[in-house]
Amino acid sequence: MTSVDSLLDGKRIVICAGSGGVGKTTTAAALGLGMAERGFRVAVVTIDPARRLATSLGLEELGNEPRRVDPERLAARGIEADGELWAMMLDAKRTFDALIERLAPDDRTRDEVFANRIYQQLSNAVAGSQEFTAIAKLYELDQEGGFDLLVLDTPPSRNALDFLDAPQRLKGFFGGRAIRMFLRPAGLSGKVLGRGTGMVFSLLKRVTGVDLLQDLSVFFRTLGGMIDGFMERADRVGALLEDPATTFLIVTSPRHDPSEEAIHFHRKLADAAMPFGGLVVNRVHTSPSVDGAVPGLAEALGDDLAQRVGESAHELAALAASDEAGVERLLAELGSPPAIVVPELADDVHDVDGLAQVRSYLFGAA
Ligand SMILES: Nc1ncnc2c1ncn2[C@@H]1O[C@H](COP(=O)(O)OP(=O)(O)O)[C@@H](O)[C@H]1O
Ligand SMILES: [Mg+2]
Repeated sequence: MTSVDSLLDGKRIVICAGSGGVGKTTTAAALGLGMAERGFRVAVVTIDPARRLATSLGLEELGNEPRRVDPERLAARGIEADGELWAMMLDAKRTFDALIERLAPDDRTRDEVFANRIYQQLSNAVAGSQEFTAIAKLYELDQEGGFDLLVLDTPPSRNALDFLDAPQRLKGFFGGRAIRMFLRPAGLSGKVLGRGTGMVFSLLKRVTGVDLLQDLSVFFRTLGGMIDGFMERADRVGALLEDPATTFLIVTSPRHDPSEEAIHFHRKLADAAMPFGGLVVNRVHTSPSVDGAVPGLAEALGDDLAQRVGESAHELAALAASDEAGVERLLAELGSPPAIVVPELADDVHDVDGLAQVRSYLFGAA
């Protein structure tokens, strides 16, 4: 059985990808924990940690910058980290705003953009997709954070692939015809919009008091100067994904639908020449040591309860068999990649103890 140690050797960025609910956030946090124990300075960029997990790491009041998980908190659970575990919850809208702040030539332009209603709509929409902002943040941390390793938990997007072409899509938007048209020197003159449109805008203004035309023109004028910066940033962010020091771990459960998505994602990674590191199959049921009737159980529990225990054991055994087949199939489909199996734990992973358990499986100590 593989340990993530070998998968992370020499890596600076690890991206946990996979479909929703399979354990990406859990895996990312447990990887961070394990690597901090190995002496590295690690930042985990998570998207949607369960509230209890965030609380147990002391991450509730996070800004959009990594904070160090208090070593005392870990020590209290018997975990001695020689390195440092940092974590942040990504705030997509704030990341997007910070990008504008960086690219704006001066404070006035920045404020104008932020106050602009069109920007407000757009940034919510772009930030809503989260994928781009996640990698943009990763890029920034990689450049400036001073971390040995960044672990990125990916958004709970329906399609893990959105993530791969997010930089291209954003570039497409800013390089798109609509924007270019508005950016012509003529700007939003009647020539570009046509008389009818101009009249609609002025009617809207009279009726609603909102000067949309003004908003539009400010938006495009101010953003116009930043487009090149955006394009360049999107390129560099995209390049980060292909860097040899970046690795993708595909996280999945052994169940049918997530497995299908994992297989699909694996193929797409290869097509895009992005570095696939290995597979984490999480929440794999293990067979109970008993199946069916257990001698003496009826005497101990009474017939009724004994029968129900027997049935549960039987169901669990069936689940375990099906999960085992699922794992085999995944390995076969993916060409026997490095793989790590993490069993279904008795409880949700919502605290440091739970993370430590998952970490033990990932690092091969369990
Ligand atoms: N090995 C496991 N055993 C039991 N529960 C798990 C395990 N891994 C994850 N979970 C639980 O499954 C749920 C989804 O995990 P999460 O990491 O949030 O998935 P994702 O980030 O992929 O959506 C969480 O409630 C988590 O505590
Ligand atoms: Mg998650």
